[in-house]
Amino acid sequence: MTVDELRRAFLTYFEDRGHRRIPSSSLVPHGDPTLLFTTAGMVQFKPYFMGLETPPAKRLTSIQRCFRTTDVEEVGDDNHLTLFEMLGNFSVGDYFKDEVIPWAWEFLTGVLGIEKDRLWATVFTDDDEAAQIWAAQGVPPERILRYTAAQGNWWGPPGETGPMGPCSEMHYDWGKTPGCAHCADDSCHPDVGCGRFLEIWNLVFMTYYREEDGSQTTLPAANIDTGAGLERVASVMQNVRAVYETDELRHVLAAAEVVTGRTYDPAENPEVARALRAITEHARALAFLVTDGVLPSNEGRGYVLRRLLRRAVYFGHRIGVREPFLERVVDAAIDYSLNTRPELAEQRDFIRRIARLEEARFQATLDRGLGLLDEVIAREQGTKRIPGRDMFVLYDTHGLPPELTLEVAQGLGFTVDREGFDAEMAAQRERSKGEESFAVEHDDRAIRYAAIEVHSDFVGYDALDARSTVAHIASGDVSVATLEAGAAGDIVLYATSCYPEGGGQVGDRGEIFAATGRFVVEDTQRYGETIVHSGRVVEGSVAVGAEVSVRVDEERRLDTARNHTGTHLLHAALRSTLGTHVRQAGSYVGPDRLRFDYTHPESPSEEELQSIQRLVNTKVRADIASATLELDYDEAISRGAIAFFEDRYTSRVRMVEYCESRGHGPGAHTDECYSRELCGGTHLQSTGQIGLLLIVSDSSIGAGMRRIEAVTGPSAERFVEDRNGLVNTLARRFRTPAAQIPDRIEALEDQLSSLTKRLEDLERRATASAADALADRAETIDGIRVLVTRVQVESADALRPMADRLCERLGSAFVTLIADVDGKPMLVCAATDDVVARGLSAVDVVKVAAGIVGGGGGGRPQLAQAGGRDAARIDEALAAALQAAKDRLAAR
Ligand code: ALA
Repeated sequence: MTVDELRRAFLTYFEDRGHRRIPSSSLVPHGDPTLLFTTAGMVQFKPYFMGLETPPAKRLTSIQRCFRTTDVEEVGDDNHLTLFEMLGNFSVGDYFKDEVIPWAWEFLTGVLGIEKDRLWATVFTDDDEAAQIWAAQGVPPERILRYTAAQGNWWGPPGETGPMGPCSEMHYDWGKTPGCAHCADDSCHPDVGCGRFLEIWNLVFMTYYREEDGSQTTLPAANIDTGAGLERVASVMQNVRAVYETDELRHVLAAAEVVTGRTYDPAENPEVARALRAITEHARALAFLVTDGVLPSNEGRGYVLRRLLRRAVYFGHRIGVREPFLERVVDAAIDYSLNTRPELAEQRDFIRRIARLEEARFQATLDRGLGLLDEVIAREQGTKRIPGRDMFVLYDTHGLPPELTLEVAQGLGFTVDREGFDAEMAAQRERSKGEESFAVEHDDRAIRYAAIEVHSDFVGYDALDARSTVAHIASGDVSVATLEAGAAGDIVLYATSCYPEGGGQVGDRGEIFAATGRFVVEDTQRYGETIVHSGRVVEGSVAVGAEVSVRVDEERRLDTARNHTGTHLLHAALRSTLGTHVRQAGSYVGPDRLRFDYTHPESPSEEELQSIQRLVNTKVRADIASATLELDYDEAISRGAIAFFEDRYTSRVRMVEYCESRGHGPGAHTDECYSRELCGGTHLQSTGQIGLLLIVSDSSIGAGMRRIEAVTGPSAERFVEDRNGLVNTLARRFRTPAAQIPDRIEALEDQLSSLTKRLEDLERRATASAADALADRAETIDGIRVLVTRVQVESADALRPMADRLCERLGSAFVTLIADVDGKPMLVCAATDDVVARGLSAVDVVKVAAGIVGGGGGGRPQLAQAGGRDAARIDEALAAALQAAKDRLAAR
């Protein structure tokens, strides 16, 4: 049975038992701040288990692409993978142990025909019920083991918080295994970990929730969450111990053999086999991660990807490959993964480019980095410990991920100073803290509003007004019956025309009118199925149960729609101009402007931005009518709709399209469309209402992500007016036609620089002649010309050239000048080399004089400067300076 046949057999089996087939969600669990990656099939169903949302069906089945980093260092052995597919069937408060266990048994032994004698079941310590059900399937008691949580029979939560529960696992027995001591006396069992047993299926009885503070609460219903590793089950079916030898992965591995010129033969050469497996695995994970929008960077998900990629390159290096190789393995990984992820083909060029660039970047420093690591290892033979500082330098300068340093070090029996390394990196981690607390607060509100169990209908796509009844009122986090004039709070209605913030679009503002009062809506948010209006009562009062009418602020909604439709046109234009790898990574759609974050590795040129803007405005002038269709997810995707990463699967989706050739009935419509996106937002009737779209900025926000901002409609008009006004003001100021402003500015700059030059010249000459005039006042002491005097200068900057000039003029000289510059004494002392040689240092004298005027300074024996505070004592300072000079000369 091939891997793909196994996929189909699994889905069919559970569809036949009433399960709705749900597509895999992204590897990036958007909207779930508790997780970095999708690590299990249940991740996209968490809100259903938590009772926050209603599932499309109570029985669900999926094949979820998953990514786990916990075992990266193990990748290369028989069966650890970072990227894998999880076969799962799920019950949201529907069936439980009585159904799920017999189904798992029947699927494994009946459909797949796995020998019953090779299967072992484990249950949580006190789970008699599950143990009995396994026994009823015919599993003999000695092969039903009771394991603790530490032994693996408790699953979850998949982050710090989340759903969890006791679980029951199926293990496959490969039979006696060389090297397993317990095999000899047959005391081996799945927890021994000698490679004899392979865990193939986990059935989780999902009934609890781990809270923030570590406490445990009960979920609204008893759920089932299962997960079977596709590649592992396939290895059993294909009778190969290593998942890498199942058909799809083996093809990729073969490509890695060709590209590296090394043969895969685990028995003959385990080191090479391990390297080839790691390269295979990481190349495949790379392709999937990039397709889901992850790009290499130095933090978060991007860092995990970079680390993986570098580990692959390192393994290539280790088996002697010195030429770039990764891109070609990645290419093969795409070829052999299209069954599960056809989108890889569309992203092929982009994925290859990322692999190529990253590999080249790392290879440039890898040799040197590994060489340095060798040196550190040689140096630390005594301590057998890699210092944190070295680890940091290897990472920071040579790109060697600390985990890789650790892996290499451990291979040689070394430990590493991870704390020291972390301390060096601490500043970087500080930054993400704020985001986490925001997420927690949002979660709190979500949980609170899920508890009130109100389903609010959004009826505002076509109408701005709605009538409804007040379902719930809150003041702060307390439920109240009435809200009086002046009070702020939240109002929940059963139906509303106010759009709740979502898909990047801001929540509507508006008003809620009751017979007894009026509430101004300042924001609208959705929590699960509940739409919450936040604002304040401005007249009378509003009470729970009151009949009300809602009115949306029309102008604001329309301006927002201009930006939303504008965003779709811009997205399409970015993709057609820069390439289809451009993916939405976030957006803000407000009445004032739009902001669109997208993936693109370099900054678009001015010309590209201009042609993007022109393209959008061509579509604006074409006044393309919009159409909104509700259809099946698969149908929408097959029509080419773009789905944002954040879009979670719902069976029916809303698709907004702008097609030049409208006129067909929506059902029959298959024409090429300029823009087709899954979107829940509010849009214009036709693109002409945008008026004009202007890009106002495009900048990097790090890690291959860019942010483009634009304005439309009235904001675009104001933008042009402001710019025009500015140009007109400048034209008047410069008394020149607008088109000649740049020339005029250039001419003025030239003029300014020649005037500056002339001024500097004049100043130099003035200083020189002032100095010349002073030179005559110098007295001769012991053959040295000494001048200590007060001078007048415009700024302290003039003192030094003056002293220099005097020394030059006087030959063998010692000069001290003090000036009062804006009430502050400024001092300079200079001595020619021969005078310094005679023991008179400018530094000594300047210190004496500066001390008197309440300041300090210093410099070299030839030249020293100082500033002071007390200008009234300048004469005293002069006298002291002269005396000090004389004393030092006399001392010789
Ligand atoms: N969520 C369970 C697991 O990942 C099924 O093992």
